[in-house]
Amino acid sequence: MEKDTVVNIKIEKAATSRINEVDFSNLNFGSVFTDHMFICDYKNGNWQEPTIVPYQKLSMDPSAKVFHYGQAVFEGMKAYKDEQDEVWLFRPDENFHRINKSSARLAIPEFPEEYFFEGLKQLLKLDKQWIKKGFGNSLYIRPFVIATEAGVSASPSSEYKFIIICSPAQAYYAGEVRVKIADHYSRSASGGFGFAKAAGNYAGQFYPTSLANQEGFQQVIWTDSNTHEYLEEAGTMNVFFRIGDKLITCPISDRILDGVTRKSVIQVAKDLGIEVEIRPIKVAEIIEAAKNNQLKEIFGSGTAAVINPILGFGYKGEKWELPKLENSYAATIKNTILGIQYNTIEDKYNAFKSDLTHCDSGGKSKP
Ligand code: COI
Repeated sequence: MEKDTVVNIKIEKAATSRINEVDFSNLNFGSVFTDHMFICDYKNGNWQEPTIVPYQKLSMDPSAKVFHYGQAVFEGMKAYKDEQDEVWLFRPDENFHRINKSSARLAIPEFPEEYFFEGLKQLLKLDKQWIKKGFGNSLYIRPFVIATEAGVSASPSSEYKFIIICSPAQAYYAGEVRVKIADHYSRSASGGFGFAKAAGNYAGQFYPTSLANQEGFQQVIWTDSNTHEYLEEAGTMNVFFRIGDKLITCPISDRILDGVTRKSVIQVAKDLGIEVEIRPIKVAEIIEAAKNNQLKEIFGSGTAAVINPILGFGYKGEKWELPKLENSYAATIKNTILGIQYNTIEDKYNAFKSDLTHCDSGGKSKP
């Protein structure tokens, strides 16, 4: 193993790469990981010297708090390679700020900005060969923080690990997506931590989603926990509805994730001249619109899927199918966002330019 120190990150390179064992044309989302990972420990009230090491298993005490109280948060980001072999991140500042917002809500100490960006930059430099060119190919980057202090007392941990792992990715959802609109279970509640990318927010969805799967739906559209009258999120994504020519999404709140892709969808849609309304939207309104043939599209947005069209929905035993459109908003907006992400579309409104990070020329530098 070669050892090397860059800035203040100790790097231990993998002796051999596993890249030749991977079939990049046939990837299951999140199942293959690159050669290296970033790790930084928190103890004695401070984040310690960060390291990059070969991808490996962790060894932890079985009483570590993450196993018992779910004190854990994460992020999802993507790196893209353009036709010139340069690697780009999409709005990484947003993910950095969001993981610290999530951490604060779960009583986890915030992570230093310079460690985050230098860690990402060095990790992507080492594993650059794992990022393949071409629309649809990307490197899904998963930063996460876990509580590692041993002991089952129900209190915040005094020790943590901040880790970044990377996984080559293609599409997130394979096949068609139809959703069940929740009328009983909830993803989050007011005053809770639905806005955070907390591990438990996702675990809590698995059971209701498995019930929806049994009814033939792939995902659940979550409604507000008080009344189940308002549409909030779709599975792990923010959700948009096209009624007539208007695109509607609900406002961000403490129950809803402040999606990075959601913001991009809103910006790109406006730039394309689409009328966007950000307001509470009732289940009754979309059912009425579906009855009048005015509900043209539903789609989810998120880092993993970018934009995922939803072809139908069910509510309290009734089912609706959406029309298949030639030039859907979902496809037009997705192609524009992908173009910006792969650096093939000029950002004429300058809405994204300052948010793109060019990893090869200094990590967090802004053009
Ligand atoms: C995302 O799309 O941002 C996600 O968080 C999806 C992930 C849970 C796989």
